[in-house]
Amino acid sequence: MVPRYLSPSLLIAGALVLSGCARAAGTATADAGKVVVACGATEEWCAAMTSAFTATTGIKSEFVRLSSGEALARIQAGKSDPEFDVWHGGPADGYAAAAGHGLLESYLSPNAAAIPGRYKAGDGAWTGVYVGVLGFCANTEVLAEKRLRAPESWQSLLDPALKQDVGIAHPATSGTAYTALWTQVTLHGGNVDQALAYMKRLHPNVLQYSKSGAAPAQQVARGEVGVGVVFSHDCVATKEQGFPDLRVTFPSEGTGYEVGGVALIKGAHDPVSAKKYIDWALTPAAQEIGPSVRSYQAPTNPKARRSDKSADLAALKLIDYDSTAAGERKLELTRRFDAEIAKAPKS
Ligand code: F6P
Repeated sequence: MVPRYLSPSLLIAGALVLSGCARAAGTATADAGKVVVACGATEEWCAAMTSAFTATTGIKSEFVRLSSGEALARIQAGKSDPEFDVWHGGPADGYAAAAGHGLLESYLSPNAAAIPGRYKAGDGAWTGVYVGVLGFCANTEVLAEKRLRAPESWQSLLDPALKQDVGIAHPATSGTAYTALWTQVTLHGGNVDQALAYMKRLHPNVLQYSKSGAAPAQQVARGEVGVGVVFSHDCVATKEQGFPDLRVTFPSEGTGYEVGGVALIKGAHDPVSAKKYIDWALTPAAQEIGPSVRSYQAPTNPKARRSDKSADLAALKLIDYDSTAAGERKLELTRRFDAEIAKAPKS
């Protein structure tokens, strides 16, 4: 079946361009053009994005889906001979951390001019492609059996009645969970000790720390826990997969959000194609692909159509989330979480 975001004519055009490229590669340059993407969103979104890019440009592309902390570790490990050309998707905190470790090459795409300043690094280290809001994903049936309601505050998540009934990922592997941790830092006026103290108080309610940020939404759907701390769009997507009892709520104290990034890896094997990929990822057409694969993050390009299933950023109480500051302290805070609260999952 042809995915909805690719029209048959686009596919045919893409195939023709590809065969043209292959021929040109045989005769002219050694570089046929291929972008290898470390991709931080859902597997479906990553597949849709890379195949649409190839169909549009004729440049081959492949991806590996990695949670934020895993991507950072792999990019760091491959510093002298990078495995990836581009990092696409996943919260900007990870990109800011990578930039701090000298792993990214600044690239000011001409298309970045359209992206609002709050959604990009001024020096071109990374540019935002989507926005996702942190929330709670509740299984109302599971909670009703325990005479509990969907939590509406960070404070109510600490209720002892939710003992081992909360799912959240581990901040060392997951960008979602790190967003939750930095949200606590921000809500506690920048005091990291108090933020970690909150996570410590939450710990008895956590059944398990998953590797990927969206996994708790699946745990909630299966009724393994009553509530998950996830990006709200992952709860909406899971609900659409046949779990009508799922309900999204947002904490009354205020909530954090992610700016999903795109960036050029320093030392990329194919920087020319990688830049074309980044240019394309910032276009309205690329940013409108998400909803066709149930990815309802809000686009950063104001010209891209926003799905009515995306969280309404203007209507929510968002905290002043500083991705650069969050990135600078990512290593320190995730190490402390690992040592003081729980070890990161291995697989
Ligand atoms: O599932 C999609 C998503 O929530 C993205 O919006 C986000 O950037 C990414 O997953 C975070 O994944 P992880 O928490 O596994 O690093």
